[in-house]
Amino acid sequence: MQAVPPFHPGELWPDTDGVAINAHGGGFLYRDGMYYWYGEFKTEGPGGNVANVGVSVYSSNDLYHWKNEGIALKVSDDPASDIVKGSVIERPKVLFNAKTHLYVMWFHLELKGKGYSAARAGVATSSSPTGPFKFVRDFRPDGEMSRDMTLYQDDDGKAYLITTSENNQTQHLSELAPDYLDTTGHYTRIFEHKALEGAAIFKANGHYFYIGSHTTGWAPNPAYAAVADSLAGPWKELGNPCLGPNAELTFGAQSTYVLPVAGKPGAFIFVADQWRPKNAIDGRYVWLPIKISGDTFSITWSDAWDLNVFPGASVAAPSTRTKSSKRRSAK
Ligand code: GAL
Repeated sequence: MQAVPPFHPGELWPDTDGVAINAHGGGFLYRDGMYYWYGEFKTEGPGGNVANVGVSVYSSNDLYHWKNEGIALKVSDDPASDIVKGSVIERPKVLFNAKTHLYVMWFHLELKGKGYSAARAGVATSSSPTGPFKFVRDFRPDGEMSRDMTLYQDDDGKAYLITTSENNQTQHLSELAPDYLDTTGHYTRIFEHKALEGAAIFKANGHYFYIGSHTTGWAPNPAYAAVADSLAGPWKELGNPCLGPNAELTFGAQSTYVLPVAGKPGAFIFVADQWRPKNAIDGRYVWLPIKISGDTFSITWSDAWDLNVFPGASVAAPSTRTKSSKRRSAK
């Protein structure tokens, strides 16, 4: 298993108990000096991709060491529940709502035994970032299909759902209601007919940046980047921002989030999943630094890196540098 720190993209990443982190298709929240990592908790063997357990959550104050905080949202044992064990719960994202003081989780939900045909979003809330989250409801946002999705909270507190709709052809940008429990009923079509998913948004240099993937299921494909002055567009295509070995397939991974490093303006981490659909629990995480230049950005492969690659104030150097014989390569 990989040594922590620094970051070793594509290698097994132990939590503070020495157990591989199990939080796939992840989303992150930073609050009161702590980072929270929410993700799909996968199980061993075939069938491990569906929600057998729920959404996991880990916490960290340095981005290197992650403590398992348990299951934030548990699947239900009630066959009448839409989040019954065996449903599909993917790409959980959590925001803190300053008006209600609730942590609000959104996720992609597919109903048990119905493949990917339901194309719904689910919402859950908690008064604590580590849960337990209580399932509120699920629906098709604005009455439209919704599969891979992300949330983006802007500087003014307004939040948005960016979701793959129209049978995976076009993304919808939809502002969330003030309590973040619903959308407001209007959406803007973005990246029309580009068939993108795995969307992530970040803001730097006064621009909104987008990274997503094409739609090839669990198999990797070239990443797709874009820049805009407004979330609603127009978006200018930037092509595939990845550089280095296997860049044409996004290093064998699929985008899930762009994580801003707290206290380091301009420092963003690209977070992606190397999926292992036959044994989903063995999926790996690819974290790489994003290099922003004006209105464009790039992501270069590195076998090992730490937060000091970012310009600006220095971050405490990695302290625990343990070599482990169990370290495995993803390549
Ligand atoms: C991918 C999607 C994943 C998962 C998978 C199922 O395209 O990004 O989140 O839904 O398909 O095949």
